[in-house]
Amino acid sequence: MVKTTNMGGGTGRRSDRDLKVRVKTSKGRKIGSTLWLQRQLNDPYVARAKAEGLRSRAAYKLIEINDKHKLLHKGMRVVDLGAAPGGWSQVAAPIVGSTADHPLVVGIDYLDMDPIEGVILLKKDFTDDDAPQLLIDALGGHKADLVLSDMAAPTTGHRATDHLRIMHLVEIAADFAIQILAPGGA
Ligand SMILES: C[S@@+](CC[C@H](N)C(=O)[O-])C[C@H]1O[C@@H](n2cnc3c(N)ncnc32)[C@H](O)[C@@H]1O
Repeated sequence: MVKTTNMGGGTGRRSDRDLKVRVKTSKGRKIGSTLWLQRQLNDPYVARAKAEGLRSRAAYKLIEINDKHKLLHKGMRVVDLGAAPGGWSQVAAPIVGSTADHPLVVGIDYLDMDPIEGVILLKKDFTDDDAPQLLIDALGGHKADLVLSDMAAPTTGHRATDHLRIMHLVEIAADFAIQILAPGGA
């Protein structure tokens, strides 16, 4: 059970004082989990994602990246690495015009994902040897125009280990992108 205390209003950079909801620690929940839960409950992007039917606050990262760099265009083929729960694919699919009949977006994650209209979702570890080929097959053998990666390994709390793990994912994503992208791809 989540025990919360309503802390009143507050905007901008949050201090402990202006949190709307403070989560009390409870038996069996680690302090890190309690703080994560508290951040989630007080995060305006989490609330906005819920209200707008987006699966993750991460969806707004892609919206902002796309506003700035204009990466997504109609007809593009897109690969979404580390797609769960599906926020980035949800944003990309309508912009490129991906449909069930003509899917242009393929996402991969080792976690379960609920279906997203117009998106092919593979439940698979991207580091598996056969993952790149499965993604290429899902695109009907076509090259991709855009490779997105938001892959992040679960953190261990050991900064050097976490850094190495995330950099490994960045490197294999970049290597895959170099192989699979059509000329002019991003
Ligand atoms: C920050 S979340 C992605 C959020 C997503 N962009 C969204 O908008 O919903 C990072 C994801 O990377 C996935 N991930 C980490 N390592 C992976 C791997 N080796 N293969 C596939 N997915 C991986 C995790 O399971 C997690 O779902």
